[in-house]
Amino acid sequence: MSVSGGLPGGPLGDWSTARPRRLRRTPALRRLVADVRVHPADLVLPMFVREGVDEPVPISSMPGVVQHSRSSLRRAAVEAVEAGVGGLILFGVPADKDARGSGADDPGGIVQLALADLAGEVGGDVVLMSDLCLDEYTDHGHCGLLTADGEVDNDATLVRYAEIALAQARAGAEVVAPSGMMDGQVAAIREALDGGGFTHLPILAYSAKYASAFYGPFREAAQCAPRFGDRAGYQQDPARSVGEALREVALDLAEGADAVMVKPALAYLDILRAVADAVDVPVAAYQVSGEYAMIEAAAAAGWIDRDRMIAETITGIARAGADIILTYWAVEVARGLRSTR
Ligand code: PBG
Repeated sequence: MSVSGGLPGGPLGDWSTARPRRLRRTPALRRLVADVRVHPADLVLPMFVREGVDEPVPISSMPGVVQHSRSSLRRAAVEAVEAGVGGLILFGVPADKDARGSGADDPGGIVQLALADLAGEVGGDVVLMSDLCLDEYTDHGHCGLLTADGEVDNDATLVRYAEIALAQARAGAEVVAPSGMMDGQVAAIREALDGGGFTHLPILAYSAKYASAFYGPFREAAQCAPRFGDRAGYQQDPARSVGEALREVALDLAEGADAVMVKPALAYLDILRAVADAVDVPVAAYQVSGEYAMIEAAAAAGWIDRDRMIAETITGIARAGADIILTYWAVEVARGLRSTR
């Protein structure tokens, strides 16, 4: 190959000998030089469990994902463990909701019962996590308590989060993951856990969580769309730059978070990379419901290669710095990773 007027030879060798394609020639070479490898144990499966149903209920905007009954949840958890996934994160869908989200910390509430079920069924084989928030449990659908004028009351909400953390810990959660984006939530939860004898329980903080349209299908899954307004008063604005995310992460770590999360994943890979470079705790990324739905929908229409798209997005999230990836495809991906090794 010759290029007239091309690059001169230099300290790294003559330009004409540089052929990056050599290492791409065969699948074995590509595998040898791959930098990013996702392991099944890095994956966390989000699971929905619905109170008062005997059979799993399909979620129309998330084909392949269901609201589990207690017994189907146990079976699905066993399958996930067999596939080698590293963690499960539970979301409860209660039969009744009220203004203070009473179901969230009721010892007989659906998430508490499901955590206890799973602790018995798969405890020790996988990390049992619980999403810690109020939106699935409140009749107004917001992530916190409301003031008389319908504003989310940050500090009153912290008291509820502390109560929920204790209820989840007592039920068997091994990690609690606060996702409500209230200021001071990690400190309030850490204090409650420590006071309740759970000094050993880690907090995975949803630290950089954006007000995102990508949560759309989740709101059907968890039946938690806000009745009025939106979450832009507490979740981050997508138009803010990385500095705000780093500040949220720093505050959460100062308050006692053991690991941090960026959410959603695909539209926020710059944030994920910056967070991963800035901290030395594990960094999680959540490939959310809308990321799942858009690939499933395009695949169902025959427009894309579904399996390659799933692998490529998850590889991209890992390459951007995620140590832990929450994805609704966790079981399928874990099985595929095991069969190719
Ligand atoms: C709040 C919570 C949400 C998700 C996880 N935790 C919804 C929201 O903030 O509106 C979204 C997850 C997804 O879209 O897959 N408890």
